[in-house]
Amino acid sequence: MLETVRGPRQLMVGEGVAQNVPRLVAEAGSRVLVLTDRVLLDQPRVAALLAAVEDAVETMAVFADATPDVPLSDVDLAVDAAARVDADVLLAVGGGTVIDLAKIVGVIRRHGGTPRDYYGESKVPGPIAHLVAVPTTAGTGSELTPVSVLTDPDRELKVGVSSVHLIPDFAVVDPELTYTCPPSVTAYSGIDAFCHAVESYTTRPRPHGPRDVVEQVFLGRNPVTDHHALLAAERIARSLRRAVTDGTDTQARADMAHGSVLAGIAFSHAGNAAPHALQYPIGAATHTPHGLGVGLLLPYALTAAKEPVRDRLATLATVCGLDVSDASETEAADAFLAWVRRLVDDIGLPGNLADIGVERADLARFAEMASGVTRLVQNHPGATDVAALTAILDAAWLGDPSRLEA
Ligand SMILES: NC(=O)c1ccc[n+]([C@@H]2O[C@H](COP(=O)([O-])OP(=O)(O)OC[C@H]3O[C@@H](n4cnc5c(N)ncnc54)[C@H](O)[C@@H]3O)[C@@H](O)[C@H]2O)c1
Ligand SMILES: [Fe+2]
Repeated sequence: MLETVRGPRQLMVGEGVAQNVPRLVAEAGSRVLVLTDRVLLDQPRVAALLAAVEDAVETMAVFADATPDVPLSDVDLAVDAAARVDADVLLAVGGGTVIDLAKIVGVIRRHGGTPRDYYGESKVPGPIAHLVAVPTTAGTGSELTPVSVLTDPDRELKVGVSSVHLIPDFAVVDPELTYTCPPSVTAYSGIDAFCHAVESYTTRPRPHGPRDVVEQVFLGRNPVTDHHALLAAERIARSLRRAVTDGTDTQARADMAHGSVLAGIAFSHAGNAAPHALQYPIGAATHTPHGLGVGLLLPYALTAAKEPVRDRLATLATVCGLDVSDASETEAADAFLAWVRRLVDDIGLPGNLADIGVERADLARFAEMASGVTRLVQNHPGATDVAALTAILDAAWLGDPSRLEA
């Protein structure tokens, strides 16, 4: 057994931990570029945090023009903003978009070039600019993952930069910063975290050698990733509905913050799978949020892979609180799949791909495109040929997982 554990120098999670941010930033450098967006900048908690940071450092500038899904044009603007203040530390306060933007800015600040020089796995030549990541959604886990996902106007699909050097130095996860998330943001970012947990737990185990732990970013599941994935699934299962229906439920918000961190730890090592690969073309075609797409696709991808991971789906049923004590393994796996479908419905996700404007005639082309996202598709525990991926999309288009059972 060969394993590796990577993460920020320090990861802290819990109500109130954001008050450590000024000290952490000041210890990392004296000239700070804050990356955030306009919505967040107007919020009292974020405004107070940034005022305290400004008091603690020599110079602070703010780039507040981050737009969803990190278009390359934002990267250029933010790199310029960092150069103007000669930033020696970056502070990201926002959702996955803002943190992913800060990561690629950190790469270019330290190593030069353009984002295109770093697309793919392990292309970043060394440590990046100091980065303190403070998520305001729960969440992508980006505050602790080795990935930045970007939108390149010259490419039909989103592109990923994956490298252990992208892991922020400090991850400060304060659930209080998520209290202002509206139900849709809570639902999309929360189901994304649930997908990270479940995809990691059901991903293929992959043999690898001693060099792979440095040369490859995602390595397949192992007992450490399983442990974190199950802890994440348990918390998210009991709290996602509550966080969506009542954003003031502080217990649910705390569970979601912890759950998204645990899921991020799991997928940082194991990797994500088919729902993430298939969301790439769907998201690009429909301009729908990442979490909406992966959440909608999850039950279909799992149904298609039910046989190879039946025991794992049965374990997830128990961990997610279903009463399956008298059920067979098959019944428990089926109960989990039905429960996931109810969950995505209850939190307000659309029921099928037709509802978000996908044309049935495009499905085979989307499957072909997704099959090229090898780092994700290779983790899917079921068949991964284009016909099999098309079948998943077709069932999701119809909103009928039973098509995959035949
Ligand atoms: N790097 C990774 O490991 C990783 C993993 C999964 C997803 N992603 C990427 O992350 C992005 C999605 O991130 P996200 O789901 O966090 O959403 P997001 O960062 O795109 O934010 C969505 C919206 O929510 C708003 N928002 C964020 N926090 C808020 C708060 N506290 N109160 C009110 N509004 C708030 C933002 O202003 C924005 O309008 C996608 O680009 C996806 O590809 C990255
Ligand atoms: Fe995701």
